[in-house]
Amino acid sequence: MSGTADSETEMAPAVRRTIHGPYVRIAHWINALAIMVMIGSGWEIYNASPLFDFVFPKSITLGGWLAGALLWHFAAMWIFIANGLVYIVFGLTAGHLRRRLLPVRFGEALSDAGAALRGKLRHGDPFSYNAAQRALYVAVLLAGLLIVATGFAIWKPVQLQWLTAAFGGYENARLLHFFSMAAIAVFFIVHVTMAFLVPRSLRAMIRGY
Ligand code: HEM
Repeated sequence: MSGTADSETEMAPAVRRTIHGPYVRIAHWINALAIMVMIGSGWEIYNASPLFDFVFPKSITLGGWLAGALLWHFAAMWIFIANGLVYIVFGLTAGHLRRRLLPVRFGEALSDAGAALRGKLRHGDPFSYNAAQRALYVAVLLAGLLIVATGFAIWKPVQLQWLTAAFGGYENARLLHFFSMAAIAVFFIVHVTMAFLVPRSLRAMIRGY
């Protein structure tokens, strides 16, 4: 009979609860694009004067040559910085960063990461990140801050000599810039793999629910 409590529950329209609000989603995808442009063009810039005994294959670099790559790098840099500021300011004022990314507990992060590697980590609650995710997201935000600061230190070593000096000089700042890129690139590979292994998390980051 249609009047029973059970059948009413069955017929009630599914409630869509927002998992990621629009500002998080827009900032996330702008950031993903800006990072890809910055890494691809950064590799081309690196190839013009390699720090180590290798260069990046031309097919995975962006810009074609040094001057082209610099244009891409600086254009994406301003987008990355402006977008990052919006994400951080909104994240702090709306409480998003505190609610979703904190606390970071290393013991829990390691055990969740171990469980994820054994395929035993449950991704039951789409509204909260597990400890390994929280640690990785906070770490990548810090790597983002470091890559911007070291980038300015090697871009304007005369005007911002205090900054370059704070990183131990131009060569050290350049190394730190490279290693922040490497950390973000490793995060990117792990993060995108996880996103495709848990497709409903990817759908939520695209449409919000
Ligand atoms: C095409 C590449 C990317 C894909 C497919 C992707 C996918 C996702 C997905 C599905 C989530 C939600 C995870 C969940 O609900 O369990 C997420 C969150 C997040 N991603 Fe990505 N992502 C990409 C690139 C990046 C990049 C390049 C960064 C930073 C360097 C990044 C940083 C983050 C952060 C910090 C969060 C947490 C956002 C928040 O709740 O405030 N992502 N990503």
